Amino acid sequence: MTRILLLGGTTEASAMARLLAQAGRPAVFSYAGRTAAPVAQPLPIRVGGFGGVEGLTAYLRREAISHVIDATHPFAAQMSRHAQTACALAGTPLIGLERAAWAPQPGDAWRQVPDIQGAVDVLPEAPARVFLAIGKLHLAPFAAKPHHYLLRLVDRPEAPPLPDCTVIVARGPFDHAADLALMQAHGITHLVAKNAGGAGAEAKITAARALRLPVILIERPALPGRHLVSTPEAVMAWLAHAETERGV
Ligand SMILES: NC(=O)c1ccc[n+]([C@@H]2O[C@H](COP(=O)([O-])OP(=O)(O)OC[C@H]3O[C@@H](n4cnc5c(N)ncnc54)[C@H](OP(=O)(O)O)[C@@H]3O)[C@@H](O)[C@H]2O)c1
Repeated sequence: MTRILLLGGTTEASAMARLLAQAGRPAVFSYAGRTAAPVAQPLPIRVGGFGGVEGLTAYLRREAISHVIDATHPFAAQMSRHAQTACALAGTPLIGLERAAWAPQPGDAWRQVPDIQGAVDVLPEAPARVFLAIGKLHLAPFAAKPHHYLLRLVDRPEAPPLPDCTVIVARGPFDHAADLALMQAHGITHLVAKNAGGAGAEAKITAARALRLPVILIERPALPGRHLVSTPEAVMAWLAHAETERGV
């Protein structure tokens, strides 16, 4: 029997859920539970961590999961590593669904850095106005630099995450004209972003390009040895093939 676990939290995961539901595939959509009001899905939903590799392995066995689709964010590396190990332990086929990374265009002033600290390090020492578009986690290291930070978060934080910041609450997808206007209204001089890829979050990158602003782009964590595709349709093809191989 096919029973799919879809690890979500991205636009691609929602598109995948729609395809699975349309095809009538038995599947469970898993959210980490980071946002107060997650996007509704056309599949049964479970919320919260599994309890590490051990918990996920037990879940796969207990729930008789036949296939796992890892459609988590390219920066959700811990979940992806856990899925890889747990699927190997449980003998469950796994596929990663991940959008392509953004690439610089001629004229772009991009600094690509390996991690959060790398981004802090390359920001100027003199006060600047930085659109810090990396979500709500890992903001604290940026307090080491004397900048005003514009933060765009899904939920309103209880307290300002940085000493000198403006918080706006919004959920993507975002569009070019609105991000251009936002960055102009806040007098933004630098953009810091994760190289998430995809269309829904690209507006800030194209807006920075139009404004000729320097962009500090945090590279994706390396996750070697995964079977990876970039579209939900390719996952469906893999599922059909994997089922034939397993005789499901
Ligand atoms: N990191 C980002 O920039 C970013 C951006 C947009 C959306 N997201 C989404 O937000 C969620 C959390 O991201 P993160 O960077 O905090 O992940 P992470 O560091 O890779 O994961 C931390 C822990 O959260 C739990 N977890 C993560 N994704 C889960 C899922 N889909 N279902 C159940 N448990 C999950 C797991 O807990 P256990 O070990 O207890 O199983 C995992 O070990 C992910 O679903 C991701 O797709 C992340």
